[in-house]
Amino acid sequence: MTKTITVTDLVRRYSLGEVLVTALNGVSVSIEQGEFVSIMGTSGSGKSTLLNLIGGLDRFDSGKIIVDELDIASLDENELARYRREKIGFIFQSYNLIPTLTALQNVELPLIFAGVPRNDRLSKTEQILRAVGLEKRMHHRPTEMSGGEQQRVAIGRALINGPSIILGDEPTGNLDSKTGEEIMKLLTWMNKENGLTVVMVTHDPEKASYADRTILIKDGRIID
Ligand SMILES: Nc1ncnc2c1ncn2[C@@H]1O[C@H](COP(=O)(O)OP(=O)(O)OP(=O)(O)O)[C@@H](O)[C@H]1O
Ligand SMILES: [Mg+2]
Repeated sequence: MTKTITVTDLVRRYSLGEVLVTALNGVSVSIEQGEFVSIMGTSGSGKSTLLNLIGGLDRFDSGKIIVDELDIASLDENELARYRREKIGFIFQSYNLIPTLTALQNVELPLIFAGVPRNDRLSKTEQILRAVGLEKRMHHRPTEMSGGEQQRVAIGRALINGPSIILGDEPTGNLDSKTGEEIMKLLTWMNKENGLTVVMVTHDPEKASYADRTILIKDGRIID
């Protein structure tokens, strides 16, 4: 099996005035390509911090993150932006859609940043929207969609640039259990049918059970 993510002795501290908060206190974990991993742990244990660092959204104090042979700490801002754009798809609890844009425009946006020509953008975006079951909502704005539909738009946006890794921070946290299950099925489809590596933070053991493996984190350390 090929390792896609290798985290070694990762430390991230935040300074809040005089106080130093150690969010991650020496985390080591490795994740194989095509694996579906869930991360669980109490509030404040460092789950989001770990996910954000793997996704290149934040910098760390010491340790190492290697993703497909890329040493994340060695990337400058431009390289990091490119890494996020090309390799990673993020899904957040609060969807983070742009309210003035339609479903189609939200999903299309990363393609604009990637410099894809207009005609290619449209066909690709429509294809992704069909794949996430939103062919009838393409021209709806976020306020005109249910939570589950908005999360599907966010998943479409995460998928559009063809990432190899999907990072989800409580992607079903705002959804009722039935809608949450549909989103979990979509993540499972991405993982099993399309071979994407999925790393997902959740508080819900039932959602975690969709994963191949669960990592337990406590006080900035992996305990299981
Ligand atoms: N920007 C920040 N500035 C200062 N402290 C922070 C910051 N972000 C996180 N922390 C602290 O780091 C620790 C880990 O936070 P993190 O958000 O990773 O937890 P979490 O496991 O995702 O929690 P939750 O389940 O509530 O989302 C917490 O003690 C938190 O207060
Ligand atoms: Mg969190």
